[in-house]
Amino acid sequence: MSDSEIKFYYKNVTADVIGAEHGITHQQLEALNEQTSPLIKQLNKEKEVGETPYRDLPYSKENPKRVKDLIAKVKDDCKNLVVLGIGGSALGNIALQTALNPYMYNIDDTQRAGPRLFVFDNIDPEQFGSFLGWVDDKLDKTIFNVISKSGRTVETAAQFLIVRQLLLEKLGPEGLRNQVIVTTDAKKGTLRNIAGDAGLKTLIVPEGVGGRFSVLSDVGLFSAAMCGIDIDSLLEGARDMDKRVSSEDFYKNPAAINAALNYHFYNHGKKISVMFPYSYHLKDLADWYRQLWAESLGKAEDLKGSKVHIGPTPVKALGTTDQHSQVQLYREGPNDKLFTFLKVENFGRDLKIAPAPECAAELDYLANKDLSVLFNSEKIATEYALLASKRPCLTVVFPEVNAYTVGQFIYLYEVTASLTGALFGINPYDQPAVELAKEATFALMGKTSYKELAQQIRSLTEVDNEFLV
Ligand code: PA5
Repeated sequence: MSDSEIKFYYKNVTADVIGAEHGITHQQLEALNEQTSPLIKQLNKEKEVGETPYRDLPYSKENPKRVKDLIAKVKDDCKNLVVLGIGGSALGNIALQTALNPYMYNIDDTQRAGPRLFVFDNIDPEQFGSFLGWVDDKLDKTIFNVISKSGRTVETAAQFLIVRQLLLEKLGPEGLRNQVIVTTDAKKGTLRNIAGDAGLKTLIVPEGVGGRFSVLSDVGLFSAAMCGIDIDSLLEGARDMDKRVSSEDFYKNPAAINAALNYHFYNHGKKISVMFPYSYHLKDLADWYRQLWAESLGKAEDLKGSKVHIGPTPVKALGTTDQHSQVQLYREGPNDKLFTFLKVENFGRDLKIAPAPECAAELDYLANKDLSVLFNSEKIATEYALLASKRPCLTVVFPEVNAYTVGQFIYLYEVTASLTGALFGINPYDQPAVELAKEATFALMGKTSYKELAQQIRSLTEVDNEFLV
């Protein structure tokens, strides 16, 4: 499938294009080659000895088999699939669905090869309540896939407790067993205990795979395959990308060049990293990327324990929508951003723009042009305008958006995150800073053993009316 390879284009970050003040010179790139090459070897070694289990996911035979076996049992009776999860337990599911199923998937039965899909990665009572009102008389045709690696995430726990009660009331313990599938740690955790106790069907979050690296495990595969996505091609794409990102030739390795450039531009004042897809299908991959970047690369300490407070700020923009919202800032505001466009060559369908009425001759130039040509022309136009303002621009080119190319993209960015982390000298696999707010929530919600913390929080955050206007 090499004609379906995604490509990484980096000429438009070079000094030849945008000048030496903001672009990267040949010498700087060569220095990055020397710095990055040993780290590619190091990462390959870590993979070989099993220290980065996420890199084994594309090769697993058991995971897709487990997922498909379960689907064979539940799919016929399932009209609605509801994912309850957050962060790495939801963003990949959303991204795959948006990327690989039609825009009208949930609405139009003829465009759907599986159940409707709803992913709740939030706890807004109005939103969730509205959904529960709709699904109330369809519960026996609805599967709830509760995903939590830790099994203790408060948002997912709260959603699940509400749904569990509803199912017990409406369908009884057997209904609960029929309609709930739990995806969690294979052996331990609150959700594993609940599943064991109630006899619920389960899937596995593999040991050592963090949420943001888990989309190619049961976490992302189940909802994707239920909704007709070709998970074998997805995994094949990831495997084929694994060959490319394992190359020890820096100039042939897209993750190495991507990581090196992200590292370089961060160190040269481009602290913000904008992902700019020109494709509706790719828009939620930019959300997935934001989590991958933020949680993997935003760290207070390096591996030696020194304070570094490092990390590019990932931003999502959508072409062409954000041309009319963000590009003014991107061109004339601070030159502190590295742009990564996502470009699609073949959209799989096209629309001809109809001729304009006689009274609007100024629109004639659009007549009979393909909408895809306009879309991609706007990508080029925006990139050109950014380059004119000396802003560095990368592009990931998708020959088309399909499971095979999306699998490549996911794996490319996961390994790029690992390698960028290695260049920064930080641990890209932990997320210690998210713990405090989680514990503070426990405290505010009255969890025992958090009383002291609850008092501290209240004294610091109690509203002072003097400052309320
Ligand atoms: O990437 C991560 O580790 C986090 O974003 C988690 O996925 C998120 O906090 C949800 O955690 P859990 O799957 O344990 O419920």
